[in-house]
Amino acid sequence: MKSLTLIALTLALGVCQAAIIETETLAGNDRSVSSIITDKLEAMKVQMADGFPRFGIPPMAPLKVSHRDLNYETGEMRIMGQVDDVVINGLNEFEIRVMDYSAILSRIKYEFNFASLNLTTQYEADVGAGYHMERKGGAFMALEDLNIAGFIKYSTGLLPSSSFRVKQIDVRVKVGKVVSKIENLSKYRIFNRKLNEVIEEFISLTINDNTELLASWIDSAVTPMCNDLIGDRSLKDLIALITGGGSN
Ligand SMILES: *[C@@H]1O[C@H](CO)[C@@H](O)[C@H](O)[C@H]1NC(C)=O
Ligand SMILES: *[C@@H]1O[C@H](CO)[C@@H](O)[C@H](O)[C@H]1NC(C)=O
Repeated sequence: MKSLTLIALTLALGVCQAAIIETETLAGNDRSVSSIITDKLEAMKVQMADGFPRFGIPPMAPLKVSHRDLNYETGEMRIMGQVDDVVINGLNEFEIRVMDYSAILSRIKYEFNFASLNLTTQYEADVGAGYHMERKGGAFMALEDLNIAGFIKYSTGLLPSSSFRVKQIDVRVKVGKVVSKIENLSKYRIFNRKLNEVIEEFISLTINDNTELLASWIDSAVTPMCNDLIGDRSLKDLIALITGGGSN
């Protein structure tokens, strides 16, 4: 999840930069830059179906993961298991509600809304929490009305060859509704439904009650990671990279 966030942010930044330069050469204003960024993002959504082979990024819409081990331990609770045939739907089905570029502030404000970001998988789990339970079956989970909003501030340096720097990434995540349909958590249907409700509540609270925490984690962890990825590249290099003109 963290690496996915990072890739998405880096691509988004690249897209924004490409758009900014393009309009600067056309002597565009902030409004037209915003609309070019929106167009680039719309194009990126389409491209997500095929992935970005040049960056080693596989098709992301849907995103398929054949197998993954899950090992999770917290306090009393231990989950060992695996998921197979994971399919994540909706990564490219977001609505761009706000895209607002300001040259003076070196800031891009954004708001994206995902109607449904969902996942289906087969799971096998060995859960221990004082007791011990082995379970397997199918699972469906969805985040509905997922809203991601915030801003990115950056500096470009004075010279064309100065490296591009991300100064602040503000990301606020809110989820409208969480759907959990994990089969076979219990052999009793009513209890199974209850367990899923607990999971829905837990995920919903984890996301909605930790907005500040997540925002500060992203800013403190992702900002330097983005800058690491960008390295000493200047705006010009970044654009070449994104538009395919570069050698790396
Ligand atoms: C899963 O997400 C996709 C993309 O947003 C959506 O079209 C589909 O209806 C969702 N599936 C379910 C079962 O909600
Ligand atoms: C539910 O889990 C039990 C225990 O692992 C397993 O024997 C059974 O086959 C599972 N049922 C389904 C429908 O997957």
